Amino acid sequence: MNRNNKASGDNLSAPLNAQRMASICRTLGCDTDVVVLPTVGSTNSWLLESDSTAEVTLCAAEHQTIGRGRRGKTWHSPDSGVTFSIRLNRPEPVTRFHGLSLLVGALLCDQLRDIGAADAMLKWPNDVLVKQAKLAGILIETSISASAESATTVVIGIGINYRRGPEAQLIDQNSTDLFQVCGPDLPDRSELIARVASRVIMAVAGDVPQAVENLSASWADYDALAGLEVAVDSGDAQVVGRTAGIDATGGLLLDTEHGRQVFSSAEVSVRSR
Ligand code: BTN
Repeated sequence: MNRNNKASGDNLSAPLNAQRMASICRTLGCDTDVVVLPTVGSTNSWLLESDSTAEVTLCAAEHQTIGRGRRGKTWHSPDSGVTFSIRLNRPEPVTRFHGLSLLVGALLCDQLRDIGAADAMLKWPNDVLVKQAKLAGILIETSISASAESATTVVIGIGINYRRGPEAQLIDQNSTDLFQVCGPDLPDRSELIARVASRVIMAVAGDVPQAVENLSASWADYDALAGLEVAVDSGDAQVVGRTAGIDATGGLLLDTEHGRQVFSSAEVSVRSR
């Protein structure tokens, strides 16, 4: 290890280590159960199906066979990827978690910037991009407790392209990985997961709607779509306009020919730069 506690290339493919993750989380002030699975369909599905009553569980996998992205997409994670999910059992209604993907995305950008991905930005609502190429994605799923309507299980899934082979880079020119962006001086995967998870767990332990409102004030620091002309597909309609930031609940603001519109959930594609 060098002075910055980075792996200098040789630990990039070290196996995931649950004890190491738990210990780094503890050092950072965050107490969580940690599970590492060699192979699983999807860490999100695994945690959603679990009946854990623990307040927080972190599950990371070496390999996902059916990794899932937003809107039914597949998340491909070759070996030596970073795929993990955090399950929270919370005594609050599901409405308290609107905008959570933006909060998680901003925290993820902060962590990735700290390790050298200085240009990491967030494409509303959940893609982390570097120079418009996708570096990481977030899939948040919730289920309402069977026993109490005001209790919610929240699963926050995060996939980070860590170090992919040259074939992957050739196939998908619209994505990138941490090795390409930062070079070999990266934290190993266990440390990276523990650092991201600790940030997220500690931030969401508080008042999520308030944190989303606070984020809306500093959204310009993260906004990969700032001032761009985009097409927004909300499922019901396609609307074209220029982005104008987010509102206090994390909704995307779009200036259209019919005035300003707000979207709480949609797919956005850029039309011009
Ligand atoms: C997206 O970009 O659409 C979201 C990708 C989320 C991928 C992560 S990998 C860990 C977790 N398990 C899954 O099946 N998906 C998320």
